[in-house]
Amino acid sequence: MPAQDSNNLESDTNNPRHIAIIMDGNGRWAQKRFMPRTVGHQAGVKAVRNIVEYCAKHKVEVLTLFAFSSENWRRPESEVSLLMGLFMTTLQSEINKLHRNNIRLRFIGDRTAFSDKLQQKMAAGEALTQDNTALTLVVAANYGGHWDMCQAFQKVVEKMAVGELINQKISEELINQHLSTAGLPEPDLFIRTGGEQRVSNFMLWQLAYTELYFTATLWPDFDQNSLADAIESFKSRQRRFGHTSEQVLKKSVTL
Ligand code: IPE
Ligand code: IPE
Ligand code: MG
Repeated sequence: MPAQDSNNLESDTNNPRHIAIIMDGNGRWAQKRFMPRTVGHQAGVKAVRNIVEYCAKHKVEVLTLFAFSSENWRRPESEVSLLMGLFMTTLQSEINKLHRNNIRLRFIGDRTAFSDKLQQKMAAGEALTQDNTALTLVVAANYGGHWDMCQAFQKVVEKMAVGELINQKISEELINQHLSTAGLPEPDLFIRTGGEQRVSNFMLWQLAYTELYFTATLWPDFDQNSLADAIESFKSRQRRFGHTSEQVLKKSVTL
């Protein structure tokens, strides 16, 4: 379905509150143009700006972007260091703009692997924007779904060891509270660009009932119209959460 002008998205209760995106295809975008992969990553930053702008304008509550996976360290050192540099310069150049636009920045992932300087910039960006109330922009950096679950279980075990959680059963709620995404709504819409149809260790727990959307569009080409198309696809689906279609249509159940 073609994208329609979605300026009224915010008034529609069927909109996704949380959109989570695997931004894939930067390397191929550049290679198609006979340019080094790094040029694709730079072009990818522009796409990030457009998508953040769209989400802020249309009152999406949370946008999570997968920027670097716990497995991406396996890439050639030169590409990893280019990505780290780009991460740092983008953070530096964009943070004030995010703040001016009332956007709250949050990082998920194991940041201890990053340089001290980068970790400081990340913490400073979060602190500066922590009270902002428009879009929450979550950047997943050195993130893995397995890591997220391990660190959540680790925190629970440590609390139990010091008697902070006594006789507490392991519940979904307890795990949710200790995941890196604690306090955020679960993703409603998952988008992966670049044509691959896999989750690549992204938000494994949180995606339990997320609607999945795959597109062959390479990330640097993914623009505001592409996002509007994905949202239209999301809105055309019936989410059932285990109920029957009839139950949902009769609105006899709360989803
Ligand atoms: C995604 O694009 C960006 C990161 C993983 C950092 P890729 O770099 O994976 O691009 P392709 O998949 O090789 O085209
Ligand atoms: C997933 O993309 C990670 C990010 C976009 C940050 P990859 O390109 O690393 O995924 P695989 O290796 O093809 O599964
Ligand atoms: Mg890729």
